[in-house]
Amino acid sequence: MLKITDFQALKKVETPFYYYDIDLFNQTADTAAAISAETGIQIHYSVKANTDRRLLEILSSKGFGADCVSGNEVEFAVACGFKPEDIMFAGVGKTDKEIFQALQMGIGSFTVESLEEIAIVGEYAGRLGRRVNISLRINPNIDPHTHQYVTTGLYEDKFGISDISFDAAMETMRRYPLIDFYGLQFHIGSQIMEVEDVFAMVCRKANQIVSLFESKGLVVNNIDLGGGLGVDYDDPDGHPIPDFDVWLRTIKKHLVHRPDQRLHVEPGRAMVAQCGSLITRVLYVKKGENRRFLMVDAGMNDLIRPALYGAYHKIENLTAYYEDENKRKGRVYDVVGPVCESADTFGTQRVLVKSYRGDLIAIRSAGAYGQVMASHYNMRPFAPAVYSDRISEGPRRKDYFAQQ
Ligand code: LLP
Repeated sequence: MLKITDFQALKKVETPFYYYDIDLFNQTADTAAAISAETGIQIHYSVKANTDRRLLEILSSKGFGADCVSGNEVEFAVACGFKPEDIMFAGVGKTDKEIFQALQMGIGSFTVESLEEIAIVGEYAGRLGRRVNISLRINPNIDPHTHQYVTTGLYEDKFGISDISFDAAMETMRRYPLIDFYGLQFHIGSQIMEVEDVFAMVCRKANQIVSLFESKGLVVNNIDLGGGLGVDYDDPDGHPIPDFDVWLRTIKKHLVHRPDQRLHVEPGRAMVAQCGSLITRVLYVKKGENRRFLMVDAGMNDLIRPALYGAYHKIENLTAYYEDENKRKGRVYDVVGPVCESADTFGTQRVLVKSYRGDLIAIRSAGAYGQVMASHYNMRPFAPAVYSDRISEGPRRKDYFAQQ
């Protein structure tokens, strides 16, 4: 069950909102930092997973770098304390404006994904008279055995440069005197659960490609294995901190590297997923013909993962647990939101305790790709962030009956 530091205070907050467990977040970050220091693999937090200012400030203060995929992410990461030189700017479709601004800010490196992009970055570097570090994102044609929407390293995917274009990529880089070849980046997908097998395979592929580049006279100073470490959506309390240890040790073991080569990873989900929950309130318990619906006040606009990927998120009744000691009987519900779409469903045929109007419900493991993917669909407002150590600072709930 989700740990709440002050349930009475939580009840007074206007729902829906994202609840971030700051202790768990700090422990996760500290665990990751310790293994990073031990293995010498640098971590660049993939900002896209969650851009909450407080979380970003904590990460930058702990010395993590950042992986950004838009000009706004680069700018915001710097505003939250990340050093420009520790920022890698990736993304398959960077605009001219984004490239220009990132060059002016002096970010650490560009991860480029096409020959055309190398040329554009080279041109702008020339015009600005600035040297630029370039990593090539490699499409290694590897299947990470995860959801098709988050698979990125196959020939069919739009990402990266594949072996057919390696010679042309090297050739293009050589044409621009201000381009410094920085290294190679491999990211094959997200929510990878077969960590040892999949990353051993990525490393073997990376070893071949790194030697190929070096045999052609390009020194690969940096090797980046991307993100992708999966989290346990079924049992967030059993595995609150993802296995950074296994991940980084697998990479260290299988990646052939010289002491002077720097290794990097870019985890997003693993850093933030388990510390976040979407808290929502039961509006109505509606009996359909064949189903019982728990209508809650959060919708797919707040958390789109179930609707978009059919993703599973654990759902819990907090009120029953904290105020009724879970004495209620079990019931099967479809947990649905108020948005005018049938896809606005957080879970079908879920066994929960008997639930009533006003109960607080937690949708777990929502810290990654939750708040950042929210929309205003149906003109619904954005759910704000509320932190475990500052619950009473959350927006107050109004009692409309009391106002008459
Ligand atoms: N590096 C690159 C180049 C990426 O494309 C991604 C994620 C990451 C790092 C971070 O991956 P992570 O460690 O979070 O797996 N919205 C989807 C996930 C999209 C992932 C996109 N790329 C979801 O909710 O499952």
